[in-house]
Amino acid sequence: MTFYITTAIDYPNSKPHMGHAYEKIVADAFARWNRLKGEDVFFSTGTDEHGQKIYEAATKRDVLPQKFVDGLLPFFKGLFSELDISYDRFIRTTDADHEALVKELIRKASDSGDVYKGVYKGFYSIKEEAFLTEKELPPRDSVQWKAEIEEREEETYFFKLSKYQDQIIDYVKNTSFVFPKTRRNEILERLKEPLRDLSISRLKKNMPWGIDFPLDSDHVVYVWFDALPNYLSSPRELLSSYWPASMHVIGKDIIWFHAVIWPAILLSTNYPLPKNLLVHGFINDAQGQKMSKSRGNGIDPMQVITAYGSEALRYYLLRSVPSGEDGNFSEEDLIARYNGELANELGNLVNRAQKLVHTHFGGALSTQPQDLPLIEFSKLDALMSQFLYHRVLEELISQLHIVNAYVNEKAPWKNEDTREKVLYNVLEQIRVLTHYFAPFIPEACEKIGKQLGFSLVNFDELSFGLVSYQLNEGEIIFPKLELLSSFLLDLRVGKITDVSPVKGADKLYVEQVDLGNEKRQIVSGIAPYYTPEELIGKKIIVVCNLKPIKLRGVESSGMLLAYTLDDQTRVVEPLGEVGDSIGVKDLRSSSLVISIDQFLAEELKVKEGVLTAKSGTLLLNENPILIDAPDGSKIR
Ligand code: MSP
Repeated sequence: MTFYITTAIDYPNSKPHMGHAYEKIVADAFARWNRLKGEDVFFSTGTDEHGQKIYEAATKRDVLPQKFVDGLLPFFKGLFSELDISYDRFIRTTDADHEALVKELIRKASDSGDVYKGVYKGFYSIKEEAFLTEKELPPRDSVQWKAEIEEREEETYFFKLSKYQDQIIDYVKNTSFVFPKTRRNEILERLKEPLRDLSISRLKKNMPWGIDFPLDSDHVVYVWFDALPNYLSSPRELLSSYWPASMHVIGKDIIWFHAVIWPAILLSTNYPLPKNLLVHGFINDAQGQKMSKSRGNGIDPMQVITAYGSEALRYYLLRSVPSGEDGNFSEEDLIARYNGELANELGNLVNRAQKLVHTHFGGALSTQPQDLPLIEFSKLDALMSQFLYHRVLEELISQLHIVNAYVNEKAPWKNEDTREKVLYNVLEQIRVLTHYFAPFIPEACEKIGKQLGFSLVNFDELSFGLVSYQLNEGEIIFPKLELLSSFLLDLRVGKITDVSPVKGADKLYVEQVDLGNEKRQIVSGIAPYYTPEELIGKKIIVVCNLKPIKLRGVESSGMLLAYTLDDQTRVVEPLGEVGDSIGVKDLRSSSLVISIDQFLAEELKVKEGVLTAKSGTLLLNENPILIDAPDGSKIR
């Protein structure tokens, strides 16, 4: 049987984040599980490269959109390769055959009488790349409104979404299309409102970065009508045998597009509907806060991999975050899971068994009668079919407990009569469990196989007693992890681009700061010491990972470093370029969000004329940061 699985395609408007990593890991576990079931799997992922978001990010940096996305692509591919994401195809929406398919679908929809020209009036969110309904709009007086919402009236082509309302309701209601149930109910609730037709083109003169609209050369295709068909494009002949998709793995924020708009496009163009949507939750920071660029609390998955390895990250995310729910990311939890379950339960079991077989049988064991039941495949597979992969891991860990207890009880180191049978049973348990762990932690499972001298086979060839063993030399498979010492502060060079007073607070200024790849607003108590003009254009050092706060109702996302000399407060002025990071030698930089107390614990001060933290001397491009103030002057 064929099994076609996809992930959402990511916007390459900055480097990939933990959410991107998470989704690919989840999808990969399903792809691998189904391969080991002997299915004919096709696994597709990629990048969503058109649209306003990308266009703006590129324009801001003064590069062409294509160049901009080309530059970010290696970060996505690099991350997926580190994570062992076993995709068969990486699609970019700028691929020629994808563009051809999108055009073909629009022509087909038009042939079905589903595309017409009109005028769209409404409020457009630059961030969501969509016109929003009244309900979805933020309050009129909010900062968000100011930054993200524009009133627009534009000539556009519409797609008759409304025509398919009943068919979609029927599909969502009467099949297991949407997982989890709570999400399905949300969609059904929203579908009680009449659907509005969907604007599917943008005037080129307003936003040129898209696929040419095939019915009108003044228009480009709206980004979602461009992105969704990725699941159907290149290589065409190949996909025709895999479609309909078995599973689209997506995040909860894009469920409407996948549960409503995508089926409507398919109905209009005469394709069968995908079988399942696995809607995963969001990975938040350790405090449960949504990770975002403006908060600066994103955790770089590459950093985690460098520190603890890719399998630790895979295991942690799949085991700790229940399918369909949100989860918090904490390094401490990751380490606890890995050490407690992989190192202590699985790693130790393999190690113990290996040693005993080497000592007593020279590493060789032939078939023995079964003494301990194997974990049941059908139970695990049923859980996978219900998308409850975290429950599969739970079952595997329980079985490990059982096997470890069996070893303790049978004590093969002293009970000679049963030794051979017991050890053979233990090896068989390990072999079978290794197969079931393999979709989740593939690299470690390969290693276990190599050491115990078996290669992985399909699940249906896993019966007890089929192999004899000749073990190789053992080495530790899951070395214990320790929390790596890191420098807690994320300090970066910024440039003040604008300063304004805060109403009712004489001492405060609101500064707009350019950090190179992002802009921040921070509030500081330096109004008595500088005029706005003196500050504008100054380079400063910003503490970027402080939890944002509101001062006098004004949001402050960070803090600038300053010191006091002769009752005057001065900002620290570094020499580097905007965006440069400041760190401590040999310590990795943390990307965790910190409290003000954690900041103060670093005790920044001047020592021998340079800026120093408790963890060590601060370095900017390998040079210390000079400050003309007496030793011991406090910096904050
Ligand atoms: N380009 C669109 C998807 C088009 S699919 C035809 C998009 N891109 S995205 O880069 O913003 O998000 C890609 C995927 O990552 C989405 O499924 C999204 O839900 C997921 N995540 C983004 N942030 C996330 C977390 N913090 N946690 C988990 N997943 C999150 O949307």
